Amino acid sequence: MTRKMAAGNWKMNGSDAALSMLQDLAQSHPSPGCDVVICPPATLIAAAARLMTPFAIGAQDCHAAQKGAHTGDLAAEMLVEAGASHIIVGHSERRTDHGETDAEVRAKAEAAWRAGATAIICIGETEGERDAGQTLSVIARQLEGSVPEGATGSNTVIAYEPVWAIGTGRTASTGDIAEVHKALHQQLTERFGADGAAIRLLYGGSVKPGNAAEIFAVDHVDGGLVGGASLSAGDFGPIISAAE
Ligand code: PGA
Repeated sequence: MTRKMAAGNWKMNGSDAALSMLQDLAQSHPSPGCDVVICPPATLIAAAARLMTPFAIGAQDCHAAQKGAHTGDLAAEMLVEAGASHIIVGHSERRTDHGETDAEVRAKAEAAWRAGATAIICIGETEGERDAGQTLSVIARQLEGSVPEGATGSNTVIAYEPVWAIGTGRTASTGDIAEVHKALHQQLTERFGADGAAIRLLYGGSVKPGNAAEIFAVDHVDGGLVGGASLSAGDFGPIISAAE
């Protein structure tokens, strides 16, 4: 059975003080039975990595280039040097706030690989697309465009996050999640063979302690990408337990 993953995306939240939460979590989960990845703001990656918790540390975005005149941006190599082993790319908030296209997301995933990090590639339909019955075609197009050639179970994780479920308290039904994850698994297997079949598929969008176990039990759901509920040990601890 695939080892599940519980990934926490702190987004633009958390100060230095938030790091004590990681120590609390490490105390309650000293040797987690799933992969735990904590993605704090970039300013906290080095400090989080220095805590030497049993958790991997991740970044929330990277630039596609290795260096150059890109004020304010961070190369994947810099994030890895700071202590990140995973990099989220293509989160819907990046796609919306910064107009990131599938091609840019794909280049960022390649940058993560170039630096030796695992890319957590996010895709997901908007509410309008779901209402128009376009979910599966949108997801297929994003997956095709955002995932580079050479994806494997060790360099890539896919996070399916319906945009309308992020931060809203609304989750997709387990039936809807099952339908999308089955399609993702099929498409990755067709494109990459056994390497594609081994790519873990996370669900994201209002995962909470109360719904995590039910969601993680769905076929082809290999864990979760968690925003709001990853900010407190009291919420994220039970989510880690549900993934174990
Ligand atoms: P949420 O965010 O858990 O707060 O809905 C998920 C995400 O954006 O990754």
